[in-house]
Amino acid sequence: MTKVAVLGAAGQIGSPLSLLLKMSPLVSELSLYDIVHAPGVAIDLNHIDTPSKVSGFLPDNDGLKKALTGAGIVVIPAGIARKPGMTRDDLFKINAGVIRGLVTSIASTCPNAFVLIITNPVNSTLPIAVETLKKHGVYNAAKVFGVTTLDVIRASTFVSQALNLHDPKGLKIPVVGGHSGATILPLFSQSKPAVTLTHEQRDAVTYRVQFGGDEIVQAKAGAGSATTCMAYAGFRFVNSILKATSGEIGIIEETYLYLPGILGGKEIAAELGVDYFAVPVELGRTGAVKAYPIGSLSGYEAKLLKVAVQELKGNVSKGVQFATAL
Ligand code: NAD
Ligand code: LMR
Repeated sequence: MTKVAVLGAAGQIGSPLSLLLKMSPLVSELSLYDIVHAPGVAIDLNHIDTPSKVSGFLPDNDGLKKALTGAGIVVIPAGIARKPGMTRDDLFKINAGVIRGLVTSIASTCPNAFVLIITNPVNSTLPIAVETLKKHGVYNAAKVFGVTTLDVIRASTFVSQALNLHDPKGLKIPVVGGHSGATILPLFSQSKPAVTLTHEQRDAVTYRVQFGGDEIVQAKAGAGSATTCMAYAGFRFVNSILKATSGEIGIIEETYLYLPGILGGKEIAAELGVDYFAVPVELGRTGAVKAYPIGSLSGYEAKLLKVAVQELKGNVSKGVQFATAL
């Protein structure tokens, strides 16, 4: 049983994610923090008839410290979201500082917690979190991840839609790389069970996975980006960690992480030429226990990989520079 803290809990992702966490029998206590409304969201959730207790905190009266004390998992969807015409990188200006501030408090209050970064641009905010924890001497590579589960969910959903399959969950399609545009690399050639896509379908579904976020941003017309599906994706990832830390074996999720700190990761990073990359990761009681190589690629995927790595390198160094500049 684990205490989970959600930072940015009053937001459009934070609230439904907190609802899903309140439903989980593996969560003993839920701690919600936001610069606005978190106590109200907590009271609301506390009227639900599940055993976990929910507390809400604002910045005053040491609220962040109270929210983080004793947390085993900290999930962060705090910050601003895209509006039409913006890239995820446009969020860096505000969200980089938000992540650095929150992770600094994690370093001093619950340095052994899992830290899961949802806030965009994930390609850069995860390196900021990692470097901030390193600076404070409490970085544990097995426990700090960028959440890219939505890309995995989109890949199986969009292929199922293209092929008129009934249940997207029946398809396991790895998605590796980063979490924005061309850095997102769905590997349809490794689908289990195998799928046959025409070149036209393959191109269209690849584009949809890479730019699925834009679909929602445009449809919401200024009211935000992916929220409900992200809460679902975020919960799936947190739940995998909760299950793995409770002793369930064989749990593998793709997640964006600093590879050199993980068993098998150093070799993958050297081969790819970049230290941060989403790959399949085996989760265990202590966090990530092994990183798996991205496997054999089709010629089409190999071309996309080169573009992904190139773009990702820039995003990573922007985050690292920000976190190490002070
Ligand atoms: P939102 O604006 O609805 O919610 C963000 C919340 O963060 C707000 O309640 C705000 O008050 C709070 N906040 C801002 N600064 C804070 C701080 N310093 N401390 C604590 N809380 C703070 O936005 P949203 O739709 O929930 O999106 C949140 C983030 O998640 C965005 O950056 C978005 O781009 C990102 N996102 C990531 C993925 C992914 O796949 N990783 C998917 C969708 C959205
Ligand atoms: C997504 O993939 O939907 C999120 O990263 C939100 C966004 O800005 O597109």
